[in-house]
Amino acid sequence: MNTCDNQTPLAGKRILLGVTGGIAAYKSAELCRLLIQAGAELRVAMTDAALEFIRPLTFQALTGQPVASSLFQGEAGNAMEHIELARWAELILVAPATADFIARLVEGQGDNLLLATILASKAPLALAPAMNQQMWAAASTRDNLQRLRHRDVLIWGPEAGEQACGDQGLGRLREPSDLLEDVIDFFAPGPLEGRRVLITAGPTREAIDPVRFLSNRSSGKMGYALAQAAWRAGAEVLLVSGPTCLERPDGVERIDVISAEEMRRAVLEQLPGQDIFIACAAVADYRPRQPARDKIKKQSERLTLELERTPDILAEVAARPNRPFCVGFAAETQELEHYARDKLAGKKLDMIAANRVDGDDGAFEGDDNELAVFWDDGAIELPRQPKTRIARELIAIIADQFSRRRP
Ligand SMILES: Cc1cc2nc3c(=O)[nH]c(=O)nc-3n(C[C@H](O)[C@H](O)[C@H](O)COP(=O)(O)O)c2cc1C
Repeated sequence: MNTCDNQTPLAGKRILLGVTGGIAAYKSAELCRLLIQAGAELRVAMTDAALEFIRPLTFQALTGQPVASSLFQGEAGNAMEHIELARWAELILVAPATADFIARLVEGQGDNLLLATILASKAPLALAPAMNQQMWAAASTRDNLQRLRHRDVLIWGPEAGEQACGDQGLGRLREPSDLLEDVIDFFAPGPLEGRRVLITAGPTREAIDPVRFLSNRSSGKMGYALAQAAWRAGAEVLLVSGPTCLERPDGVERIDVISAEEMRRAVLEQLPGQDIFIACAAVADYRPRQPARDKIKKQSERLTLELERTPDILAEVAARPNRPFCVGFAAETQELEHYARDKLAGKKLDMIAANRVDGDDGAFEGDDNELAVFWDDGAIELPRQPKTRIARELIAIIADQFSRRRP
């Protein structure tokens, strides 16, 4: 078992350090030394351009491991070094990351060992860019960084100051000691460590007949992003999901359901022992009272469906004794705060996150969202941003409120 104390906060953490061809490559030797000192297991991968700036022998001596640099002449017996490294790493940190490398990463290119490894890996990726200030300010670099942030790539730095080329400005590699702190923060236990979180996501489908159903436009993206963020914050996460096209987030257990009633049953069955319940699913409010046993034929000019209310899962959970901390979602087209606070009080929730929905349906199907979050004596606005990022912020707020109420 790994030991971890103040001297070795990274004990046993498997980190792949990527080094690309920038003038700051010499500083990655210092970073390498600091990471090892902090207890990390380190492997190093270098691009061809990086080899022009610093010799692999330096890293080999520091890590005691061969340095990976060639896709085709690697050390791995099966010639699959990029796959082996991709599976091995718990974090990939590229420092320095050149403008060129960043551009090729955005395009998904895999024509060198480091790029191929990143493509093949599920490990989180962090970049420490370093370049001339004009290269950093270039529109293409800005666009590329924005696209990587949307993909959840962590960007550490750069910093402002004097540059090797004599320019002043933003573009210096973040100091190795600060990058070490970033890595330690990354691996630090999250605010939901040891907590169990149950999340519902996606739409439900309510059968009209064996081939037709009533549903809604929920994509499930927000709930899935929350599940991922809660897991990253250290929680054990169970996702009860209506039908979506999304893949199960890493580390998260998922139960698939179709209808509101199935979702209710799954939630109630899984409820004991949960600390936090986040009801993000767009559960149908009504369902056909009597779904037809056979397909309804196209005979009459008009067809009337009789609908009945579906169970209110969130209200049922919130009304239970020993209930978890309950977070609801509200989608409103008008008077957002008024309706959200009504729901917060009416269902006796701990917190509610409200979306404004209108014609463009960003909240339902898009990749971005904005939320207004309300609780008894507080509120916060989360401006429009990718759902993955807004999920992280919302999970941090939930963790904070949860710890105040249930220390
Ligand atoms: C002396 C010298 C210094 C360089 N420094 C940088 C740098 O700091 N940042 C950067 O983005 N590119 C820098 N470059 C350009 C890169 O080396 C070049 O774009 C290369 O293709 C990067 O390859 P790689 O990303 O595969 O390592 C430098 C080039 C030279 C010749």
